[in-house]
Amino acid sequence: MNIINILGIESSCDDTSAAVLCDGKLFSNVINSQAIHEKYGGVVPELASRAHQQNIVLVVKEALENAGINISDISAIAFTKGPGLLGSLLVGTSFAKGLSVSTGIPLIGINHLHGHILAHFLRDKDESSFVPNFPFICLLVSGGHTQIIIVKDYLNFEIIGHTIDDAAGEAFDKCAKVLGLPYPGGPVIDRLSKQGDKFRFKFNKPRIAGLDYSFSGLKTSFLYFLKDNIKNDTDFISNNLNDLAASLQWNIVEILLDKLQKAVKQTGITEIAISGGVSANSGLRDELVRQAEINNWKVHLPKIKYTTDNAAMIAMVGYHMFLNNKFDDIDVVPQARMDLVSI
Ligand code: KG4
Ligand code: ZN
Repeated sequence: MNIINILGIESSCDDTSAAVLCDGKLFSNVINSQAIHEKYGGVVPELASRAHQQNIVLVVKEALENAGINISDISAIAFTKGPGLLGSLLVGTSFAKGLSVSTGIPLIGINHLHGHILAHFLRDKDESSFVPNFPFICLLVSGGHTQIIIVKDYLNFEIIGHTIDDAAGEAFDKCAKVLGLPYPGGPVIDRLSKQGDKFRFKFNKPRIAGLDYSFSGLKTSFLYFLKDNIKNDTDFISNNLNDLAASLQWNIVEILLDKLQKAVKQTGITEIAISGGVSANSGLRDELVRQAEINNWKVHLPKIKYTTDNAAMIAMVGYHMFLNNKFDDIDVVPQARMDLVSI
């Protein structure tokens, strides 16, 4: 049987990435993270699409070279179709379509969220290790999304909880901005937390029914808490930065894991994975592992390099779409908003 070589392309936000997956094993994964947004305190869509335009040809070329694969040996081009910033998605989509037209290689449009979930199945060339068994619960926590999903197989899901406003990553980033920290704030809060007392300050917890989340209230209560304290101590933030970071992080972790506990009780599924940028958070990882030991859950933590946006995860979805003959026509268009649905 022929080897299935998938070229993955990711450009939904501020990372330009390309990867090559050969029969489900990762041969290369090149990521160009756009540093330009740091000084603006958030991703500037116009600058992001421009940077993708500058990077994409070089990134794809490097991914093919690193894998030692010729473009003529690629079986399908899997690109991120959505959700994300439209201008950013357009660059990856247009590039993939151009490459498809010029080579005759079929196209597969991928949901970025699907990619974050299947990141758990990524294995390097010579690596073999445990992957989640179906069905498992995936807590998908990124800068744009927070969802609890039952993953039934590679292409089948049921979303049982989601945020009704901000995503967990947004809560990290927005609160970090209020503290005067650079973008993205999540990793900075994580780093500062290691030297802080997580029980020092308490912030509001949302009271939302069922398995849904809400994070917009936390941002507001955090802001007012700081304003109140700055009245008495103008250096309140700098004097307490580590404790503020640790308490904020602990609050977000508790909110995330309270609902995850509920989801386990409700579904009876005890195999759990976390994915998306926030799944890199050390507080979340440590507490999940601790709770898993107590409750006898089986937990899957993604490798840090596959938590944030990358094309390897897009190629992994592409591989399973290919096996199931799911292709896109050349008139495929990107979608800024795109729900995660079974295929
Ligand atoms: O998955 P991702 O790269 O992009 C989206 O699809 O949104 O996630 C980016 C988000 C940002 O909000 C960033 O602050 C957060 O992931 N993040 C973290 C950590 N590393 C990245 N949040 C908390 N702790 C971290 N260590
Ligand atoms: Zn993402």
